[in-house]
Amino acid sequence: MRKIIIDTDPGIDDAAAIAIAMFSPELDVQLITTVSGNVSVEKTTHNALRLMTLWNAGVPVAAGASRSLTGMRYDAGDTHGESGMDGFAFDEVTVQPVKLHAVEAMRRVLERSEEKVTLVPIGPLTNLALLFVQYPEVKEKIEEIVLMGGAFLRGNITPAAEFNIYVDPEAADIVFRSGLPIVMCGLELANMARITGPMVDAVRGNNPTAEMIYRLFEHYRDGDMESGLNMFDSTAVAYLLAPELYTTVDCFVGVETASPLTRGMTVCDLDNRLGRTPNVKVCTAVDPAGFQKLFIDALASANGV
Ligand code: BDR
Ligand code: CA
Repeated sequence: MRKIIIDTDPGIDDAAAIAIAMFSPELDVQLITTVSGNVSVEKTTHNALRLMTLWNAGVPVAAGASRSLTGMRYDAGDTHGESGMDGFAFDEVTVQPVKLHAVEAMRRVLERSEEKVTLVPIGPLTNLALLFVQYPEVKEKIEEIVLMGGAFLRGNITPAAEFNIYVDPEAADIVFRSGLPIVMCGLELANMARITGPMVDAVRGNNPTAEMIYRLFEHYRDGDMESGLNMFDSTAVAYLLAPELYTTVDCFVGVETASPLTRGMTVCDLDNRLGRTPNVKVCTAVDPAGFQKLFIDALASANGV
């Protein structure tokens, strides 16, 4: 079993990604840390706790950064709903977050783990950047970072920038320059990793998790049920489970932090024009049918309670 920490801003597609990870026997979710992104960190933490309550799961949740490194806050409630996970009648939350900041919680898990742990950030990279600045020694305990963020073509929040990177470019810059192995599952993959309403409808009777995902999808304003919803964050989790579905290029990736026009852009030197040492494995494609099968099979066999 591979030990992972998920750093997240749930988020409807985050909820789907966390579900796939939680119910995949190959993955051992050690910790969930939350960050401000799709909605405030209070809401993303509450949403993570809603999931843990639904699943009666013992995975600790630690709340993290409420703002970017430069003090900014964004909101994608127009996409994910006001709560960040609108559409399903969750029970009242019965679990509490741990009494540690996400950075301290990550440090503790990493220090105590005998084997290396993989970080799976699927929101803005603020918590990871704070961890690396404050406790650089923990890098030794990190196997790799498999993240959802960035794009090698164009953005979704500005013409140049993808949301997770745009929200905290300084943090992304620190992470991309961390020296750790990084796998980048960017925007382009999500267009190949689409799940439709009917696909989830076919399995939603199986368990409460599939039903919950179906209900969230009905309220997700990033696509539509018939033509499909972009499963951004699940592309990172699916990479851990089936890397053979992905096409990758090892290359240099830099994060633009200065230019007002392209701030948050991940400049991916896929053709090695700069001749710089590769720091990222950029995923350039995923097999759509393979991804869909992995996603739906995982959802169909989620035990839910
Ligand atoms: C990313 O932004 C968020 O809205 C999604 O959860 C995903 O992590 C896609 O740009
Ligand atoms: Ca996310």
